[in-house]
Order: sequence, then structure tokens, then C-alpha cells
Amino acid sequence: MIKYNLYIKKVEEELDNIKNKIDLNNIKSRYIGKNGILTNVIKNIIKYPKEERSIIGKELNNIKKKIIYLIEDKEKYISYKSLKEKDKKIDITLPGIGIKQGTTHIITKTINEIESFFEKMGFYLVDGNEIDTEFYNFDLLNMPKNHPSRNMHDTFYLNNNYLLRTHTSNMQIHIMKDNVPPFKIISSGKVYRKDSDITHTPMFHQIEGFIVDKNISLAHLKGILINFLYSFFGEKIPLNLRSSYFPFTEPSMEIDIECINCKGKKCSICSYTGWIEVLGCGIIHPNVFKNCNINNKIYKGIAFGMGIERLSMIKYNINDLRLYFENNIEFLKQF
Ligand code: PHE
Repeated sequence: MIKYNLYIKKVEEELDNIKNKIDLNNIKSRYIGKNGILTNVIKNIIKYPKEERSIIGKELNNIKKKIIYLIEDKEKYISYKSLKEKDKKIDITLPGIGIKQGTTHIITKTINEIESFFEKMGFYLVDGNEIDTEFYNFDLLNMPKNHPSRNMHDTFYLNNNYLLRTHTSNMQIHIMKDNVPPFKIISSGKVYRKDSDITHTPMFHQIEGFIVDKNISLAHLKGILINFLYSFFGEKIPLNLRSSYFPFTEPSMEIDIECINCKGKKCSICSYTGWIEVLGCGIIHPNVFKNCNINNKIYKGIAFGMGIERLSMIKYNINDLRLYFENNIEFLKQF
């Protein structure tokens, strides 16, 4: 029996002297392979007298188990070693793969900037309805059917009086009709008009703001908007307040900023006027108040609306509106 134990010792010694899997497999097949030394001994157990066979068989099986264990252990060690070797071969001077970080879309970024300004001024943010009725988008905003001002908006009509809102001013009505003043609201989102050329897309973004309170005046409107534009453009840019017309405000104004490109010297960007129109605003029309059951004798309202794409094109010097919607990663990752 003792001599069979020697196989364990021999296998141990041989395993000590090898470094790769080929040598390991050689040892494995030499001892416990189909024609291995130990395998043959086990096969020949029949030569022993009957009464000794079971004791010798047990002993040989234990020896085989031990040898398998030694071989597997060495195998693990060799695999671990070769992994370590591979580690050493990593060229740390190569540029890393890195994780690419996404950025906020330029439109969202601009909306966030504008909203955060007005939130700091105490405005309350509300979500908008993109699908609305003529009633809210036009009628109650003092634009009754057949009123010529409706032609200013090329509208996408849906079924049964529904339409895609043409401006964010519909939110004035939604808030004023169902709630009690005072209001200090800001609401942004998508608006739709049947327009498509280099400077117009059928969908674009607006932001609407309005205040309804007892002692509110044109002076507040001017103050708020001038402060906003100075803050948004980061400097005291020259401004021009010009009287204008909107059916839902009276008086109405538009604000132009001096063309950032030519600094007022007149160029193709500003259609050779030196100015770029950035927003519309005014005192909320008495008819709009009446339509929303707000007492015009007690309350006054100011309102303004502006185009997000227009504002960010000026601020970030982007000269093609289509870039906003083409999802070109090289363009988008700049912001
Ligand atoms: N709704 C107007 C537009 O789409 C902008 C506006 C809003 C003007 C509020 C006055 C007051 O052009």
C-alpha cells in the first residue's frame, strides 16, 4: 500500500517544476489519463486476493482524489499567474475609452435659464396644453372667428374644434378662467404653425409670462423684461421698445435688441435694420378679462411671450434654425 502513496509525492514534485498548462495536462494524462499509471493500477486491482480488494480500492480512490485536487489547484494557480502577466502588458499611455456624458439640449438649456430667472422673481411655473380648442387658443383671447388677426397664425387644425396651439398665450386663459387672482405665472412649451423655411419650423418653443394683480402697470412690465434681457444676455444690451398690436393686449409692445452681429450697423442677420425683435408684450385686454370673469376695475394684467429658438440663436450665435432639430451630435455637444 505504502508504495501507492508515493504517487502523490511524485505528482507534487512534478507539479512544482512546471509553469504552463501543456505540462500540466501531460502530468494529468500520465497519472490519471486513460492509460495513466494510477488508472492502470486501479484496473489491475483484480490481481489482488478478494479480501484485500475493497481496502486497496478505497485507498487507491483516495489517492486519485488527492491527485485530482493537486492538479486542479495548480491549474487555478497557472490561470491566475497568466492573468497577472496580461495585466502587466496593459499600455497605460494609451488614451482611455472613457464614458461619454450626455448634455442638455440647447432648447431645454435655454428654457431652464429663462424659467430660473422668472422663478427667482416669484413667478409660478405651470405646464401647458399643446392640443387645445379654438376657444382657448383664439376666441377667449379676443380673436373671435373671422377676426383678421387669426390670419397671423397658420394653424394646424385637428378634428372637432381641436387644434395644435399656435402660441403659449392659451395658458393665460386656462389659468385665469379657472382660478382667482392674483396670478404670477410662467409657462413654456411647444407651439405649432404651418410655416417651414430657413427661419421657420412647423414646431417651435415659446415661453409665456403674465401677472394679474391690483396695482400692476406697464412700468412693472418694462422693468421685469428689461431686467430679464440684461440678465439673459449677460450685459446691458441696447433695447428698443416699440408699440405693436396683439388682439389680447392693449396697449401692445414689442422689444427689439440691438443686432448682436453688427452692433446696430445693419447686416443680413437683422434684415438691415440694426435691430432684432425678441418678444411681444402688453397690458391684458379688458375683453380677455371679461371672458375669464376677472373684474377689470379691480385687477390689471401684464403679459409677455417670447420665442425660445430666437433668443438662443442670438445668445449662442447660431445662424441656422434647422440645427436645433437635426440631432447632429457635434453641434449638440457644444452646449
Ligand atoms: N402670443 C404672442 C405671439 O405668439 C406673444 C405675446 C404674448 C404677445 C403675450 C403679447 C402678450 O406672438
